[in-house]
Amino acid sequence: ATEAEEKDLVIIGGGVAGYVAAIKAAQEGLKVTCIEKRGTLGGTCLNVGCIPSKALLNNSHLYHQILHDTKNRGIEVGDVKLNLAQLMKSKDTAVTGLTKGVEFLFKKNNVEYIKGEASFASEHEIQVNLNEGGERTVAGKNIIIATGSEATPFPGLEVDEKRIITSTGALALEKIPESMVVVGGGIIGLEMGSVWSRLGTKVTVVEFLGQIGGPGMDTEVSKAAQKVLKKQGIDFKLSTKVLGGDTSGDKIKLDVEAAKGGKKETLDADVVLVAIGRRPYTAGLGLEKIGLDTDERGRLVIDSEYRTKLPHIRVIGDCTFGPMLAHKAEEEAVAAVEYIKKGYGHVNYGAIPSVMYTHPEVAWVGQNEQEVKASGVKYKIGSFPFSANSRAKTNLDTEGFVKIITDAETDRILGVHIIGPGAGEMIAEGTLAIEYGASSEDIGRTSHAHPTLSEAFKEAAMSCYSSAIHF
Ligand code: FAD
Ligand code: NAI
Repeated sequence: ATEAEEKDLVIIGGGVAGYVAAIKAAQEGLKVTCIEKRGTLGGTCLNVGCIPSKALLNNSHLYHQILHDTKNRGIEVGDVKLNLAQLMKSKDTAVTGLTKGVEFLFKKNNVEYIKGEASFASEHEIQVNLNEGGERTVAGKNIIIATGSEATPFPGLEVDEKRIITSTGALALEKIPESMVVVGGGIIGLEMGSVWSRLGTKVTVVEFLGQIGGPGMDTEVSKAAQKVLKKQGIDFKLSTKVLGGDTSGDKIKLDVEAAKGGKKETLDADVVLVAIGRRPYTAGLGLEKIGLDTDERGRLVIDSEYRTKLPHIRVIGDCTFGPMLAHKAEEEAVAAVEYIKKGYGHVNYGAIPSVMYTHPEVAWVGQNEQEVKASGVKYKIGSFPFSANSRAKTNLDTEGFVKIITDAETDRILGVHIIGPGAGEMIAEGTLAIEYGASSEDIGRTSHAHPTLSEAFKEAAMSCYSSAIHF
């Protein structure tokens, strides 16, 4: 290879973490190269994650609503048919529009985009196996690793993305399976389980723990979510572990047993979705060549400024610590570039919202009640049901509640937990409240437009320090 041209910053991975870092760095006047092997930008989130799943969630909800929730609204519909191929096409249109949009932003900001697989040749040099064939070496004064994550495999269930699938297969099934067992009742299991259940599949979720929703979800909210999803037709087997599967017959046979041992049974399924979490993806990077460390879960080890032990190499997004969320990756991208350019940056890990885009949505920020209780802090809870909110009533969409946890002594908001219509939008208000160190009284004395769902947020806050008016 010829001598490499040196850039101010070379980024490995063009996912949310990588592409946001690239644009931010270019805006800060750095010469930037971003290397992505997928062939399109946007990573997991835009190609096989957030975006396609939300397209399917939105349209499957619409279909389900037209089938089951129109008559009482005074809307009589005729023959309703599902065109799965078109449903998938509209999802693909959203994906392509957004991935191409990022490519356009690269051009606009003068980011060099190399399509290929990167691996470290030395501490400053990266060798790229170009997608179009051939090789190229690039060097960076600074390097950001943003290689993301992949689905954690389940030993004994070999993924073919047709019958044994991860979320990627679940976003692209060509026909509606009669039955699906979801291994893992976390966010992916419940979102993708909802999609296929709404389209007609009999979905059973097998979860190892005693509650659904994955890490972070408040237990009271998790129970409420389970109840609504059960009403929508999803079956749950909690505190249950999968022992193994047999794919030799027409139906997949899945052996499960109570997590604490004991009762065994066999579940039949046309499709099994493995959704037991994701793990950092660093394969092929050649980390060993430059001696970078990963922890026991495969996460690249960094300090509070995202630096590895080689200080010019930083790591952001799913392949390092913290929640595997696109907006967390985005915050880190901006902060890491600011550290490079200015020497300081900032991410408030206590104020990163989580959203589960089921119907109703579930959203939270800050600590949940289990965590506050365990911390020993004296706390208060204010809550307000959507069944008492005027807008939810006009919309005939009254499931759920807002729950706000405050410090009993200072009234500072410690956590916000919402299950209900539009929870994913409403949580922004909770996040801002936590970021600004708001008290429940700050929220309760702020005017909220009427009639809006956000009044439920205000009244939950009022019920922390005083009383709600409408409940
Ligand atoms: P990634 O998006 O995984 O990007 C890493 C990129 O690096 C990939 O494109 C990969 O091809 C590339 N790469 C890896 N190694 C190399 C190499 N050696 N050379 C070149 N390129 C390389 N998060 C949310 O916040 N909201 C959601 O609604 C949401 N929904 C999701 C739904 C699903 C089904 C899934 C699977 C995830 C979802 N997530 C969601 C999580 C979100 O997708 C991730 O947190 C986010 O994509 C992380 O961004 P990243 O840039 O760190 O990694
Ligand atoms: P998850 O961590 O949310 O949930 C995995 C679930 O599987 C947990 O409840 C866990 O107890 C269970 N589990 C683990 N091993 C099991 C086993 N052997 N048998 C049965 N259950 C088992 O992980 P998930 O759903 O795979 O999603 C991965 C990540 O992707 C999430 O952590 C999230 O960060 C991200 N994501 C975010 C979304 C969003 O923000 N809306 C949507 C989808 C994914």
